[in-house]
Amino acid sequence: MKVPHLVQYQGSKRIIASEIIKFFPDRVDRLVEPFSGTCAVSILAAVENKCDNFWVNDINEPLIRMIEECVNAPQKLVDEYFSIWEGQFQKDQNNVDYFYKVREEFNCGKKDSARMLFLLARIVKGAVRYNIRGELNQSCDKRRYGTKPQIIANNAFRISELLRGRTSFSSKDYKEILALTKPGDLVYMDPPYQGTSNTFYARDNRYIQGVDFDEFVDELIKLNQRGIDFIVSYDGMTGDKIIGKQLPKKLELNHIYINAGLSTQATLNGKKEITYESLYTSKRLKYLPNGCEQIEICFG
Ligand SMILES: C[S@@+](CC[C@H](N)C(=O)[O-])C[C@H]1O[C@@H](n2cnc3c(N)ncnc32)[C@H](O)[C@@H]1O
Repeated sequence: MKVPHLVQYQGSKRIIASEIIKFFPDRVDRLVEPFSGTCAVSILAAVENKCDNFWVNDINEPLIRMIEECVNAPQKLVDEYFSIWEGQFQKDQNNVDYFYKVREEFNCGKKDSARMLFLLARIVKGAVRYNIRGELNQSCDKRRYGTKPQIIANNAFRISELLRGRTSFSSKDYKEILALTKPGDLVYMDPPYQGTSNTFYARDNRYIQGVDFDEFVDELIKLNQRGIDFIVSYDGMTGDKIIGKQLPKKLELNHIYINAGLSTQATLNGKKEITYESLYTSKRLKYLPNGCEQIEICFG
């Protein structure tokens, strides 16, 4: 069965979600995603019947409201998306100018879910970018018009069937969410790549907010102390170049590299390099998934 996804989103774990959930326990009381984005992992966990309760959180409020509307009011989202999407084809309307008009309206406060969805669907590779005022400033992908409403509708209704009635939504800093987790929860964390998004050393503002490395490590120490199981996707490796600092040994995590396919950036530079995404699992979680005798590269 094809797993539904609402819209392209930079950093989405859609492609490797099936590798990630192999490390889940057979049943989870509640899956908590503090950096949920478009929540690819929760959606797959629901498809695979790993869990009946979900909590998705992201600091980006319009994004989380869009996911909430997709789950709880898909028809409304689909109808409003259709009307915004269709607007770009009006007579005498230049579709690129139309995108910038919608983006301007969004930045001026009209942050409704359909507008967020249209912007994500039409920006280059779903790659959100924000300026220091928190305004979305990514350009329009001029080669495409954004996902067709019928495709959005098919995916939105299926996501709704999977998550409706059993998902909580919030838009808070991840630390507030971690403080409210309890034993029996499984926390899956997919923070922004190190060095991105408004951290002190940020090279680009990829997401609306970033995460400080040391602060993040302190939060993981607290989860260990409280006996809460977790899984973290955190940077990785392109070719033989390690990206970002690895999580420290004192956390006693298992560290696995997942083959995420050819690196788009390297391909653009004329090289063929594989990207490996790091996955860390807290020590009580299984190291080798069922049916898997060996992981491509393992660091103990
Ligand atoms: C790599 S993306 C997650 C992608 C997600 N796994 C998916 O499948 O779509 C990281 C997310 O973390 C969010 N984020 C950044 N800083 C945060 C914070 N301090 N607390 C909560 N969320 C945060 C960003 O808005 C972004 O959506």
